[in-house]
Amino acid sequence: HVHPLLLCGGSGTRLWPLSRKSYPKQFAKIMGHDSLFQQAATRLSGEGFTPPVVVTGNDFRFIVVEQLAATEIASQAVLIEPEGRNTAPAVLAAALVLAEQEPQALILVAPSDHVISDAAAFRAAVQAAAPRAQSGDLITFGITPDRPETGYGYLELAEGADAAATTPQTLARFVEKPDAARATEMLASGNFLWNAGIFLFTAESLIAAFRAYAPDVFAPVEEAVRDAQFDLGFTRLAPKPWKNVPDISIDYAIMERASNLAVMPYGAGWSDLGGWDAVWQESAPDAAGNVTSNNATAIDCTDTLLRSESERVELVGIGLDDIIAVATSDAVLVAHKSHAQRVKEAVAALKAKG
Ligand code: GDD
Ligand code: MG
Repeated sequence: HVHPLLLCGGSGTRLWPLSRKSYPKQFAKIMGHDSLFQQAATRLSGEGFTPPVVVTGNDFRFIVVEQLAATEIASQAVLIEPEGRNTAPAVLAAALVLAEQEPQALILVAPSDHVISDAAAFRAAVQAAAPRAQSGDLITFGITPDRPETGYGYLELAEGADAAATTPQTLARFVEKPDAARATEMLASGNFLWNAGIFLFTAESLIAAFRAYAPDVFAPVEEAVRDAQFDLGFTRLAPKPWKNVPDISIDYAIMERASNLAVMPYGAGWSDLGGWDAVWQESAPDAAGNVTSNNATAIDCTDTLLRSESERVELVGIGLDDIIAVATSDAVLVAHKSHAQRVKEAVAALKAKG
C-alpha cells in the first residue's frame, strides 16, 4: 500500500485574491466543486492506498478536518508544524512518524494544489513506480516541458533513459529552479523533464537520505517528532526543536544531492496552477478564448478570464483581450495575462501598506 502524504502548508500568493493568507489556494474552490486539496485526497484514495497523512500549519487544521469530512475521507494522521519551514522538514516529519510502524512504508508526497485531470491514470502511474521505490530509489514524477519555465525543477535523464517510458527511468541529475538561460538550454537539449513535485520513496530510504545529505534538518526534526504532543486528533510537532529546523525544500535538501534518483514520466495531464494564466488555460476557454464564471459576462472579449466569487458582484468586461479580472466580496484584481506571475507583487504591496 502507498501512504499519501498531502502537503498543504503553502500560501499560493499568485492566485490572490482567491488565495488568501488565512485560506490559501489549496483549500479554495478554484476548479470544480471540490477544493484542490479535496481533489488530491480523493485522487489518492481507494485500492492500493492507505488513508492520507496530512502535514499543515496550525491555522489550517480545522479547514483540513472540515474538507476531509466533506469528502468522506478519514486521515491516518494530521501533523501540525509549529511554523512553516518549507517542504523538507514537513516530508521528513511524516516519514519519521510512518517509520515508527513500518520502516518500509511507501510514501507518495503529493502537493495539494495541483490539477491532475486523469485520476485513474495517475493512480496507475504511482502503482507502476512502486517496485522501484520499494527497492530503495527516490522517485520523482516527470512532465515533458513545453517552455523554459524557471519556477520548476528540471530532471536530467541518464544516458539511455526513455522520457516516454511507463516505468521509472534513471536520473543523471536534479536541477531545482534554474535561471532563464539554463532553463532555455535544458529545454533545447531535449534531455530534461520538469519535476512535478510529486515523490515516491520508502520512509527508510528518505530518512537515510536526510541523515546523509541534510543532517542539520534531520536532527531537530527527529527531536520534534520524538517530543510531539497528541491533541484532539492532531500530532503537534514540538515547537522548541522546531525553532532550529532550517527553512529548505526537499528539492534543495535532498533531490539535488542524492544519487539514487529515478523519474516516472507522466504524460496524462498535470498543472500546478501556478497563476491565473494557468487557471485560464485549465478551465477550457470557449471559442473566443474566454473563461467566465457565474455572475460574469464577456462582451466582445477574447482570451480573457472574468471571474466573480460573489453573488453580489456582477463583473462585466467589454472589448478586452488577454485580461484577467477576478472579483471577490472585498478585493478586485485586474491584470494583463502576460503579467499573471506578478500577482504576488499585489500581495506584497498590500502587506507593505499594512
Ligand atoms: N506542510 C507544508 N509546510 N507544506 C508546504 C510548506 C510547508 O512549510 N511549504 C510548501 N508546502 C506545500 C505547498 O502547499 C505545495 O502543496 C507543496 O508543498 C509544494 O510547495 P511549493 O511552494 O508550491 O513549491 P514550488 O511550486 O515552489 O516548487 C515545487 O513544485 C514544482 C512543481 O509545482 C518543486 O518541487 C519544484 O521542483 C517543482 O517543479
Ligand atoms: Mg507549487
